[in-house]
Amino acid sequence: MTKVGILISGRGSNMAALLDAMARGEVPARCALVVSNVPLAAGLQAAASRGVPTAVVDHRASASREEHDAKLLEALSAAGVEILCLAGYMRLLSPAFVRAFENRLLNIHPALLPAFPGLHAQKRALDRGVRFSGCTVHLVDEECDHGPIVLQAAVPVLPGDTEETISARILRCEHKLYPAALKLLCEGKVRVAGGRAELLLSPQEYLPLLRGLMDMGENG
Ligand code: GAR
Repeated sequence: MTKVGILISGRGSNMAALLDAMARGEVPARCALVVSNVPLAAGLQAAASRGVPTAVVDHRASASREEHDAKLLEALSAAGVEILCLAGYMRLLSPAFVRAFENRLLNIHPALLPAFPGLHAQKRALDRGVRFSGCTVHLVDEECDHGPIVLQAAVPVLPGDTEETISARILRCEHKLYPAALKLLCEGKVRVAGGRAELLLSPQEYLPLLRGLMDMGENG
């Protein structure tokens, strides 16, 4: 079974969704390590309570991003991590780190990339007056919230939505989308070519997947 690592900085609700999906057998993987750069991140408790090994690699203990990421890489390698998921990990990664996990590093972002990368994506989408926002799981390259898209799901913006209500609707969708994308990567069904991710699925598999993604956002 594929050994997965998860990086967090905060509450870790996406991490919990991934761990629970693995525990239910919906994703053919097990989590070897959860690492936080923030010592008091709530997600660390949530991981420990699920019996998952945790570690803290505090970025404030390193003089540079490169030094911090080298420590991170050491911890992940020692745990045998093959695929790494960023789950609310709010730090940029150094190019060397990204290269070490090339095509094995996933991120989730609360918008339909390439629209609204960066912080406060939900509020910026709302302020822009979009009818749909959503969430994206993508392979990570050296740019922030950028790289080949694996899966996306659209979430409607409803009259009267606030940053809180749209964020909550998108988050519920994130919790379903991330396990689905990790499953595809673990099963070897994601091939990257020319900066795009191709899903190695038959039409009989692809169309139901797409329909499921359309339901995911609407039923949020
Ligand atoms: C999630 O909404 C995730 O999409 C976002 O941070 C939140 C983390 O919540 N990530 C980004 O904005 C990345 N650019 P969580 O800690 O409860 O999973």
